Amino acid sequence: MKRIYYFTGTGNSMRAARVIAKALGDTEIVSMRMDPKDVPATDCDVIGFIYPVYHWTMPAPAVSFVEQLEINPDAYIFVVAMPSFICGIACERLAQILENKGAVINYGDLVNSVANYAIVYPPFPSPKLRVPKTEKKLKRIAEEIASGKEKAYPRASSFIKRRRDKVMVPYLELQKYADNPFTISKDCVSCGICSKVCPCDNIQLIEGRPAFQHHCANCMACVVSCPKRAIGYEIKQGDRALLNAMSSKTPLVKVMGLPKKRKLYRNPYINTADLIKNRE
Ligand SMILES: Cc1cc2nc3c(=O)[nH]c(=O)nc-3n(C[C@H](O)[C@H](O)[C@H](O)COP(=O)(O)O)c2cc1C
Ligand code: SF4
Ligand code: SF4
Repeated sequence: MKRIYYFTGTGNSMRAARVIAKALGDTEIVSMRMDPKDVPATDCDVIGFIYPVYHWTMPAPAVSFVEQLEINPDAYIFVVAMPSFICGIACERLAQILENKGAVINYGDLVNSVANYAIVYPPFPSPKLRVPKTEKKLKRIAEEIASGKEKAYPRASSFIKRRRDKVMVPYLELQKYADNPFTISKDCVSCGICSKVCPCDNIQLIEGRPAFQHHCANCMACVVSCPKRAIGYEIKQGDRALLNAMSSKTPLVKVMGLPKKRKLYRNPYINTADLIKNRE
């Protein structure tokens, strides 16, 4: 049995899972939004993990998923990280979790992808230029994995590790406030799509209005999937922790927001219905 587990906000990682699954053949693709207890990998001889990079590491929901996942430690295990530019310790973090389960990563690589953090910046580099390059690298990786190649996973330099402690770790501490600034405009039609695409089950519709439940990964799935572009992001006076952070170690907080005209990005091979799926 071959299975790929992926976490995605805007589809890059899901697309990668599909390309690699096709090359492997007869491979199940499972979203990390599922309960890991329902999809154990104990009967798998090939296991893949694919996810974006958040704050120079593995996204917290993916960490939590893999920590709870039962696996076959003798399987051929691969990881593909999907950063925009800086992968940091995203693969090392997975290796640590797997080590606790007596398993090692046989193959690891990264694919630089379009940066999707819409509440901080517009998509870059241009999807027109970046996506074809991403596809090309994905196909090469897919062939290597299908042939059972062994490859050391990417590691962060000691410089990046030191910088991460100073520059990125403070952002992780703010994560619990990450959905406070979301706004819902009068254009909302209560369709519930934002709630269905959220990989963290973080949006409930209460009397037709999306309500954020404070375990947000800031993955951007809801933002890019809303058919009315009704989701905004505005740091308000009441968001004390975020406001305090503005003057300290988290300068990006100063530019967080979602101008109405900002371009949004979702991987061109993935649509809203795909983001709602749990497995395929
Ligand atoms: C909250 C957040 C943090 C991010 N941090 C990083 C980062 O540290 N390094 C990086 O290269 N890209 C970073 N990105 C960009 C994503 O990793 C990249 O766009 C990824 O391909 C998105 O994958 P997805 O489409 O599967 O969600 C970040 C994006 C978000 C939303
Ligand atoms: S997807 Fe947009 S329109 Fe639909 S419920 Fe969510 S915010 Fe409202
Ligand atoms: S609320 Fe939106 S940004 Fe937060 S995890 Fe869910 S889909 Fe992603």
